[in-house]
Amino acid sequence: SEELNLRPRSFDEYIGQDKVKENLMVFIEAAKQRNEALDHVLLYGPPGLGKTTLSAIIARELGVNFKVTSGPAIEKPGDLAAILTNLSPYDVLFIDEIHRLNRTVEEILYPAMEDYALDIIIGKGPSARSIRLELSKFTLIGATTRAGLLTSPLRDRFGIICRLELYTHEELKKIVKRSAGILNIEIDDDAAMEIASRSRGTPRVANRLLRRIRDFAQVHSNGKIDLEIARYALNALEVDEMGLDRTDRNLLLCIIEKFGGGPVGLETLAAATGEEADTIEDVYEPYLMQIGFIQKTPRGRKATRLAYKHLNIEPEQGDQLSM
Ligand code: ADE
Repeated sequence: SEELNLRPRSFDEYIGQDKVKENLMVFIEAAKQRNEALDHVLLYGPPGLGKTTLSAIIARELGVNFKVTSGPAIEKPGDLAAILTNLSPYDVLFIDEIHRLNRTVEEILYPAMEDYALDIIIGKGPSARSIRLELSKFTLIGATTRAGLLTSPLRDRFGIICRLELYTHEELKKIVKRSAGILNIEIDDDAAMEIASRSRGTPRVANRLLRRIRDFAQVHSNGKIDLEIARYALNALEVDEMGLDRTDRNLLLCIIEKFGGGPVGLETLAAATGEEADTIEDVYEPYLMQIGFIQKTPRGRKATRLAYKHLNIEPEQGDQLSM
């Protein structure tokens, strides 16, 4: 699919996350030189930053198979046992949302990661016994939004832990131009920068905006994306100058109008806006904090002066503003 085609297939093509990339290249090279499986890798950070893509690249650079599953998809210990026993030597097993594995499944993973072994119980009652099945050496890559969501025994079994960061505007501009090239879209430099600066630091958002803006350019113009049509489309899509969408603005307005600017607890904010607490924390907050619009305090979330200014709201007497 086009979605897959946009994904970079090598470190050379992968834009951004330079520090993570440099380190991974060393660990991959070293593992290959020693003829070992790459140590298990934990990738964490907000959604849409390329954790799956990076994992596929790691497998490709190792020259092994890439098997994909997710925490919620593995319901029973037997499901995971089936996956593990089907791996070939040195394969990469990618588990997305690894923090959502259930307890009994997670316990299968400990000996698998540590000793490449599967402990299975045969029989029931007094005659039950445990036998150990040897697995191929493999690399587990786990992905999650926050490392803190993992239990510590699971987190401790990853030898390589990488945090993915929000992308800079320059990096996103390169990604937008690369994607436009692949999709055969003509785009001006300033238009690419406009999309980049409104993509909340996230390639997935940038690529989604690019496709939608292309639709506007095609229907309202000659198909080429210039700054004017980009701004027109972004306005129609209700993405503002900072890249905030309706949900972002709703969250900020809620903190300001219903809770006097905060501090307000995450669960209270979730109930008041109708958004899931996890979604607020994983999807919306990282960017709002990065641009300095909200602050996390021990007593909850606060809107900053910058947020008031952006929304054109005058702080009222009694609003506890920081910054
Ligand atoms: N498309 C999505 N993420 C990308 C990245 N990091 N580099 C290049 N193209 C991408």
